[in-house]
Amino acid sequence: MTQMKTHSNEGEQRPGEHKEDTHMRAMVYHTYGSPDVLKLEEVQKPVPQDDEVLVQVHAASVNAGDWHLLRAKPFLMRLMGYGLLKPKHTILGSDIAGWVEAVGRNITQFQSGDEVFGNTAKYGFGGFAEYVSVPEEALVLKPTTLSFEEAAAVPQAALTALQGLRDKGHIQKGQKVLIHGASGGIGTFAVQLAKSFGAEVTAVCSTRNLDIVRSIGADHVIDYTQEDFTRNGQRYDLILAVNGYHSISDYKRALNPEGTYVTTGGSNAQMFQTMLLGPLVSRTGRQKMGNSAHKPNQRDLIFMKELLEASKVKPVIDRRFPLGDVADAIRYLEAGHAQGKVVITV
Ligand SMILES: NC(=O)c1ccc[n+]([C@@H]2O[C@H](COP(=O)([O-])OP(=O)(O)OC[C@H]3O[C@@H](n4cnc5c(N)ncnc54)[C@H](OP(=O)(O)O)[C@@H]3O)[C@@H](O)[C@H]2O)c1
Repeated sequence: MTQMKTHSNEGEQRPGEHKEDTHMRAMVYHTYGSPDVLKLEEVQKPVPQDDEVLVQVHAASVNAGDWHLLRAKPFLMRLMGYGLLKPKHTILGSDIAGWVEAVGRNITQFQSGDEVFGNTAKYGFGGFAEYVSVPEEALVLKPTTLSFEEAAAVPQAALTALQGLRDKGHIQKGQKVLIHGASGGIGTFAVQLAKSFGAEVTAVCSTRNLDIVRSIGADHVIDYTQEDFTRNGQRYDLILAVNGYHSISDYKRALNPEGTYVTTGGSNAQMFQTMLLGPLVSRTGRQKMGNSAHKPNQRDLIFMKELLEASKVKPVIDRRFPLGDVADAIRYLEAGHAQGKVVITV
């Protein structure tokens, strides 16, 4: 567990004001590096602006983006506004769930006491903390059927899966859909979402995860340690490579003549090939191949809330870590073998 450091000069306390009114605990980093650079510190509690909602965070979840930002990898991130020499946003964590503590004067959708969940990525992150203040577009009322931990597991992973299948993949009822990397944060949402769109779903994972992907509705499972799905003669209408480790020609071979391949992540080689050659394949033949990057937005979060409340999708949580152990949670996710989502309890 990380030791807490106090910034005595940050956010001066006024007479009659208690320290807990003005300060909060947060997992902070001031230099790029390994998870060791993360420290639990006492920092100033955010004050909501007129168009902001102050959320008391009950749970957050960890995404690959957190360790990319922590390490500034790929290097290009430094040129994309995240801070050239040191991080611009010192508190990571995009997915949150909690209570509305206060609202700015222009807020119309929420009031104090509401239970909400959302994605702070477009608004400077800040989820690995006791409080975060964000515009109301970042938030949606928490599904009544979910715990805070379950709700915090949803935003980024579910929207990546949803947008990959629906917006890039144009998924249709009755299609044969294969999810590669089906047992992780995004994959467990992708399997359930593809089922909810009426597809026949094949999930690819390793031996220890076969039961998990069956339990969330996969019609067929392929153990990648025993069988190479790109060489077994089966063809799919849509392949979503959540964690893709094959070459683009392997994926092309496993597609129907008019099939679509979408990747959200995986090996650098596979991502790079898709970026470079995908547009060429898509333009010159009937198959479509391309990347999908998730776009946080309130409309899709509401779409997910409805599916979650209808019990068509249920978050799969692997491990929970307390706020002080965010570094361990990131190390665990970075190892690449999470079974569902990794959640932080605040
Ligand atoms: N496009 C976007 O906007 C976006 C957004 C978020 C994340 N991402 C990227 O999407 C990818 C997946 O993210 P995630 O959060 O789902 O990751 P994750 O939770 O860390 O994925 C872990 C899962 O991947 C499986 N896996 C590892 N190697 C595999 C292989 N060779 N074949 C099949 N499955 C394998 C693991 O299963 P085993 O233990 O059985 O191997 C584990 O269950 C990452 O590359 C991430 O950077 C993209």
